[in-house]
Amino acid sequence: DLEAAARRVDDLVRLVPDFPEPGVLFRDITPLLADADAFAQVCEALAVQAGGPIDLVAGMEARGFLLAAPIAVHLGAGLIPVRKAGKLPGPSVAESYSLEYGDATIELHPSTVPAGARVLIVDDVLATGGTAAATIRLLEHCGAEVVGLSFLVELEALGGRALLGDHAVHALVAVP
Ligand code: PRP
Repeated sequence: DLEAAARRVDDLVRLVPDFPEPGVLFRDITPLLADADAFAQVCEALAVQAGGPIDLVAGMEARGFLLAAPIAVHLGAGLIPVRKAGKLPGPSVAESYSLEYGDATIELHPSTVPAGARVLIVDDVLATGGTAAATIRLLEHCGAEVVGLSFLVELEALGGRALLGDHAVHALVAVP
């Protein structure tokens, strides 16, 4: 259930001050990934929370991959790896955004996203929303329908949700 999964996130996502830069409170999901029961429980909760038929799950490099892939298998959906610039052989489409720490460009292969595909976006953390908003733009550029976005943790103070339009946004844990 969702509450039990949220407790696993609270217990097993480790807070690391000043990583990768001073002033950033990093959320380390490796203890959660290493706990077989918790990992399965959290992936199932994120998959169930999505609701509705899903054709593809899009996960953002790198930590989003770790959640999006098992969730895609769970849902019987395909996987879209949304990669940092220069990793895909192409042809690719690209979007740039600002991150909590630095700037970045992400890319995907449009040939793997059919027009009208129903896509769920999955990542570990919603912070400023830049990564997720750029992912929405990439998918909509391909003609896909973004049916929702699911995160382990939403950092509400950073206001990321405001960048995501009226898409359905779910987070197992919301940090004020
Ligand atoms: C982190 C996190 C999200 C993004 C959230 O990834 O995994 O993808 O930042 O931030 P935003 O809402 O402000 O855009 P990061 O870019 O650190 O990459 P990594 O997963 O490869 O460590």
